[in-house]
Amino acid sequence: MRYAMTIDTARRIGEVNPLVFGHFIEHLGRCIYGGVSDPGSPLADAQGFRTDVLAAMRKIGVPVLRWPGGNFASNYHWEDGIGPRDKRPARFDLAWRSVEPNTFGTEEFLAYCDALSTSERPCRPYICLNTGTGTLDEAVRWLEYCNLDAERFPSYHARWRRLRGRTEPYAVPFWGIGNEVYGAWQVGHATAEAYAQKCVQYARFLKAVDPGVKVVAVGADNPDWDLEVLRRTGNLLDYISIHQYYGRDDYYGTVAAAAAVERRLKLLCSVVDVAEAMLQRDRPIEIAFDEWNIWYQSRQRPWEEFYALKDALFAAGVFHAMYRLCTRVTMANLAQMVNALGMLHTTPTSLVLSPIYHVLDMYSNYTGRVVLDTALQPEDDEARETLSADIAVQVHGRPVPPPRVVKGVPYLDAVATLDGAGKRLSLAVINRHQSLTATLRVDLNQVRTRSGVEIHQLTGPDPMQQNTVERPDAVSPTTRRLGIWTGPVELPPCSVTVLEWPLQP
Ligand code: AHR
Repeated sequence: MRYAMTIDTARRIGEVNPLVFGHFIEHLGRCIYGGVSDPGSPLADAQGFRTDVLAAMRKIGVPVLRWPGGNFASNYHWEDGIGPRDKRPARFDLAWRSVEPNTFGTEEFLAYCDALSTSERPCRPYICLNTGTGTLDEAVRWLEYCNLDAERFPSYHARWRRLRGRTEPYAVPFWGIGNEVYGAWQVGHATAEAYAQKCVQYARFLKAVDPGVKVVAVGADNPDWDLEVLRRTGNLLDYISIHQYYGRDDYYGTVAAAAAVERRLKLLCSVVDVAEAMLQRDRPIEIAFDEWNIWYQSRQRPWEEFYALKDALFAAGVFHAMYRLCTRVTMANLAQMVNALGMLHTTPTSLVLSPIYHVLDMYSNYTGRVVLDTALQPEDDEARETLSADIAVQVHGRPVPPPRVVKGVPYLDAVATLDGAGKRLSLAVINRHQSLTATLRVDLNQVRTRSGVEIHQLTGPDPMQQNTVERPDAVSPTTRRLGIWTGPVELPPCSVTVLEWPLQP
């Protein structure tokens, strides 16, 4: 397959918000207990956090971390998780039919966000509220506890935080008003109308406590629901959410699902355009893609998925979609970070990084923030072919019948970016073809590169290959440096590649 592409750094789509590299941790399976927190493990720090997980996550950066669910959030009472750990009540969790010990609560979560933060990349907490068994009153107290200045507003909850040793407010910026309320599996399942009414109350009064917070409303990937919620909440919301899970054993059914994600995100962008045209807003409505992943193997505890190379191509495709839609999709949270649907897996003595982790590493560390408007030109018949595949949409871990078909998916998909300072040009390319190598000619046009190019690549002979305890590096990226860029570049079948050119000032 032969392709060509011209890069013009003046043609810009917009800037990727770093929050699209966000993560999600839920009280589910071994995510929190065993993944995040593992007191007593030789690999844990003084706070009980797994240091190997922290190091892996700091390397890729966690700009935003969503917690405590997910479905779990809809029956979580935050006050159970404050105070001396041995006094905290264990509760039955309706969402996952397990017992929650409550030893990891709000303060542990916020300490974990601190532990994940680096000077260049702070980790912002994102708390998902309980609109199931919880009340507005409870939500407001949670926000008081986290964000209220105890000097200016010496409320019981703000002072409680201060008594527990934290004078400065935590300033939690993001608050989600419930989770997947549209689904029958959710504690507090409601109609769009009922949810929208509740959402208005939550948004208005959360902002009464802290006008600076950003609130996220539950979107349903359904224009009826989404428009109803957006219309009724008017100017109060900051984000509308969308969740997407896909998964199949089939190679093309997996890699092509990224195109389905892109179409669903575009649909939500259109719904948001319509809502903005109807509403008097003083700021844009943003999209929080706050759960996304492959999920099909594990439908029961401990809800662990072992991701393969093919799943990494899906993840790369999702990033390409988010880059192209960067002006609207401004936050995303991979579901999930560790163990449960985790891109990381812990054992008592080791950590396994999945191929999806490596894609996040490549995109967060080697692509830039300014997205260029580029198009691939197919140069032979093979390159003009597109891919059609049956994909499986998964909702709450179950396939939604019937399987949907996506058509017209290009085998090669590329996104070019510049870093903010204009010092580096990056080109990320996915070759979805299972057997054909692609040859790509890149016309750098007037771009003044300095000599050389760095090429990061994730590929392998078997798209079903996973990383395991025995072979943790079975699928891992390689980096090579070419002193002189002569082009074209060869992209092996089933590969994700990021090329980086240093630019002349
Ligand atoms: O990530 C697992 C679950 O998937 C989340 O709890 C829920 O929001 C979604 O259905």
